[in-house]
Amino acid sequence: MQKKVLITGGAGFIGSHITDKLLELGYSIVIIDNLSSGTLKNLPNSNNVTFYKLDINTDDIEYIFEDEKPDFCIHLAAQTSVLNSELDPLFDAKMNIVSSINILRLCKKYNIKKFITASSAAVYGMPKQLPLKEISETNPISFYGISKLTMEKYVELFDIPYIIFRFSNVYGPRQASSKESGVIAIFHNAMLNSQPIKIFGDGEQIRDFVFVKDIASIVSQSLKSDTINQTFNFSSNTGITINKLFRIMKDLYNYPLEASYLPPREGDIKNSILDNTKAFETFKNIENTALLDGLKVLRDYKATFVTT
Ligand SMILES: NC(=O)c1ccc[n+]([C@@H]2O[C@H](COP(=O)([O-])OP(=O)(O)OC[C@H]3O[C@@H](n4cnc5c(N)ncnc54)[C@H](O)[C@@H]3O)[C@@H](O)[C@H]2O)c1
Repeated sequence: MQKKVLITGGAGFIGSHITDKLLELGYSIVIIDNLSSGTLKNLPNSNNVTFYKLDINTDDIEYIFEDEKPDFCIHLAAQTSVLNSELDPLFDAKMNIVSSINILRLCKKYNIKKFITASSAAVYGMPKQLPLKEISETNPISFYGISKLTMEKYVELFDIPYIIFRFSNVYGPRQASSKESGVIAIFHNAMLNSQPIKIFGDGEQIRDFVFVKDIASIVSQSLKSDTINQTFNFSSNTGITINKLFRIMKDLYNYPLEASYLPPREGDIKNSILDNTKAFETFKNIENTALLDGLKVLRDYKATFVTT
């Protein structure tokens, strides 16, 4: 029988790619999303997708569990900005901790077979050495990092079979471009529109960028797998400075301008690379897209979108 997956935040950037992948694999999908940052335009028109525009932080969502009887839950809905977590830690905690508890208690009550969720490299804080492994010390330096780490602790104690993924910086088509977005989405948008680009800090900070379709691939593998109750980094395992990223994208997009520089942002980690060995040893056939290839897909996706 067709298995049903409830995805919170399914209309967002990562959630919509996971939806596409799971549809390809024959699952039926139920999405709860309040569209605070996601959009229905991200979602395919399919009889196998049922959408509920609701906030996960309310009791109202219980009827969805009753009516839909999902087999699995992929929990992605969150406040996703480090900066916003510094500006409004209460909102961040409500969205990332309290809302997650609300979903977890319903998953427990309705016997969800597996709970998969998205945590972040932000749980590690300032790394003592790179790349960071799952067993590295967690010492978050932002409220977002604290709320994600706290969510992880609740997941571990809720007694539902679970997988936690700590993602590095995810990029790819459909990522919203605002000042809170990932740097690749910001560069992409600015370069397509020939707008100026500002880099926080000296640009020598290192990041580890993972392509969104690789995320969809590992999440779908983890759903099928017998592996439970584990936490995995998921990343490209490779670091690149923001300055180098800028140069690569400048060439790819034929962008004529140079970047200017601003002071570093509070709560930002200087260097971050996640070791993905455990995930690659555990799950088979995971996609591992090279940065240049992923950037070309992103550039061409938007180029098509802009000209139509
Ligand atoms: N993008 C990254 O680089 C990255 C890295 C590490 C972890 N993550 C995590 O992955 C998950 C998905 O992130 P994303 O980049 O796709 O962000 P996104 O903003 O595109 O997606 C989040 C989705 O959740 C929805 N949402 C937010 N609050 C909600 C609420 N209270 N009720 C219902 N829906 C709500 C939004 O409308 C949106 O569709 C998040 O948990 C995020 O913290 C993302």
